[in-house]
Amino acid sequence: MVYESIGAPIDVRVVRLAGGDSHLWLDPALNVYVTAMDYSRGVEIHRRALWRDHIARPGWSAFGAVASVPAGRFPGNRLRRSSAAPSIHRRRLGHGAARAGTQAPDEVLVGVAYGYRGGADQWWNQQLRLGLRQAGCEAEQAARLLTDYFELTELHVHPDAQGRGVGQSLLTALLANRTESRVLLSTPEIPGEDNRAWALYRRLGFVDVLRNFTFAGDPRPFAFLGQDLPLPVNRSPAHDPGAPNRCR
Ligand SMILES: CC(C)(COP(=O)(O)OP(=O)(O)OC[C@H]1O[C@@H](n2cnc3c(N)ncnc32)[C@H](O)[C@@H]1OP(=O)(O)O)[C@@H](O)C(=O)NCCC(=O)NCCS
Repeated sequence: MVYESIGAPIDVRVVRLAGGDSHLWLDPALNVYVTAMDYSRGVEIHRRALWRDHIARPGWSAFGAVASVPAGRFPGNRLRRSSAAPSIHRRRLGHGAARAGTQAPDEVLVGVAYGYRGGADQWWNQQLRLGLRQAGCEAEQAARLLTDYFELTELHVHPDAQGRGVGQSLLTALLANRTESRVLLSTPEIPGEDNRAWALYRRLGFVDVLRNFTFAGDPRPFAFLGQDLPLPVNRSPAHDPGAPNRCR
């Protein structure tokens, strides 16, 4: 599944995904997630129920990156037909001249991002609160940090569409016009912060909230990162010591 093999540039547009239309986009989104995270097939079965549950949470919002490709190329990512949502960003992927197809192209999902308003009743919130306390953060400080925030829950771009700014377009669309004071997220710790997720978050000015935390039931270390909203126009440098999203 290589876009370059199509031999044509592909327009990718970022669109809002409606919760009521999840029957149209949820399976392709889970396919992007499993492929981007390199998880084994079957993980999406458990995740489907969880992602559905998230849709019902206060302040839930989602965006998808949609590409038009020759019919039948990427059946797993194909979106069911729906009323066209207006696009927010457009990007052109691939190289070469566009070829006229004989069949109508398929609409495929190549990226997804969603999140919701954080709340003290949520497991992720409770895990972060626990980690902050274990790291020596005062209860009052932890409570302040965990009030009025948007949780970036998922952000994934299919490997064939990565490295073209699609993830950033999804993230900036998701964080635009939020009412919360800040955005918080968790991401796996990577040696030297050397992957596209870390590069993206640092580029957008995300700072450390808590490092090397292990969630209950998962041995991998995770980092929590945060950034004020709205996103600054001139990105603040990563590791800004004056950033307000830290415990201390
Ligand atoms: C993290 C992730 C969502 C980032 O999405 P992405 O689309 O790959 O990355 P970005 O939007 O940041 O794109 C940045 C790249 O696009 C390039 N770019 C930016 N604008 C561009 C444009 N207009 N045209 C072409 N390239 C462009 C940048 O030069 C950069 O390239 P580089 O990474 O080779 O240095 C994606 O890599 C992914 O799904 N990773 C696996 C899953 C994952 O880790 N998810 C996050 C879990 S917390």
